[in-house]
Amino acid sequence: MKLIKKSEEVVQVTGGWREEGQRIVLVPTMGWFHEGHLSLMRLARSLGTKIIVSLFVNPIQFGPREDLAAYPRDLDRDRRLAEQEGVDALFAPAVEEMFEPEFQTRVVLSKVSQGLCGAGRPGHFDGVATIVTKLFHLMVPHVAVFGEKDLQQLALIRRMVRDLNFQIEIVGHPIVREHDGLALSSRNSYLTEVERQTALCLSQAIGQARDTIRDSSNTASVVDLIAAATAYIEAHEGCQVDYVSIVDRWTLLPGTAIDQDSVMALAVKINGRVRLIDNGLLL
Ligand code: PAJ
Repeated sequence: MKLIKKSEEVVQVTGGWREEGQRIVLVPTMGWFHEGHLSLMRLARSLGTKIIVSLFVNPIQFGPREDLAAYPRDLDRDRRLAEQEGVDALFAPAVEEMFEPEFQTRVVLSKVSQGLCGAGRPGHFDGVATIVTKLFHLMVPHVAVFGEKDLQQLALIRRMVRDLNFQIEIVGHPIVREHDGLALSSRNSYLTEVERQTALCLSQAIGQARDTIRDSSNTASVVDLIAAATAYIEAHEGCQVDYVSIVDRWTLLPGTAIDQDSVMALAVKINGRVRLIDNGLLL
């Protein structure tokens, strides 16, 4: 596996692949790989002939009071894991390589960036859209793979690709969970053992909403489902709900009735320190 740190080199390597007629699949990440990232790489393998993973802790998607400095990093470990998955190249640039001091451009999506995580993290999705645009321009992949764990991010990328005519197919990967239901996240490494147990209330709240809908033959109201999930989560010590919403998985618009595309999406702060997100289809 090639380790690439410079943008000129990544342009050259991926350009060479295109000339050979390879089908390039990109998996953008911020590293600290877990089984979720590795599953994305495995899916990527099945979608093309050359797999490139980007590893970049993107400073412009972190707010001033967020965990940029603390974000877990271990390039050697990630490099080994990617290699084991048969990744062809890992693009891991330094911050200066991606952002010149005079950098001043942002890709902004007006609607899909609002609400849910966008409400509590102003500028976050502009940072994501901007870095993903840069990665797409550098590598020009045929396909890019994103996880459904970051539901709003996936909806945003799909919208951006259509709006800006990127000739890139976007493929979503289902959420990868621990055996007990906790969605894998690099941020889980911030949790103490007790907090990790508490964090199960996110996936449990979604499961309970699903059960309520089934038991009521889908007559439960959206308002009641949200209230029940919020109450359930906040009954756990140290849990503070940022949002619980029921939205359409494609448009992210709130719904009044539950259908095949309805998703419960939620964000919870644990002990004011670790913010976790989760989501799941309700039918
Ligand atoms: P990161 O949080 O490292 O996630 C990289 C990719 O892995 C994302 O597409 C995310 O949705 C996916 N992923 C993370 N945990 C997952 C899980 N449990 N199941 C399935 N997929 C999972 O998301 C980012 O990085 C950044 O915002 C990025 C897109 C790289 C832009 O900087």
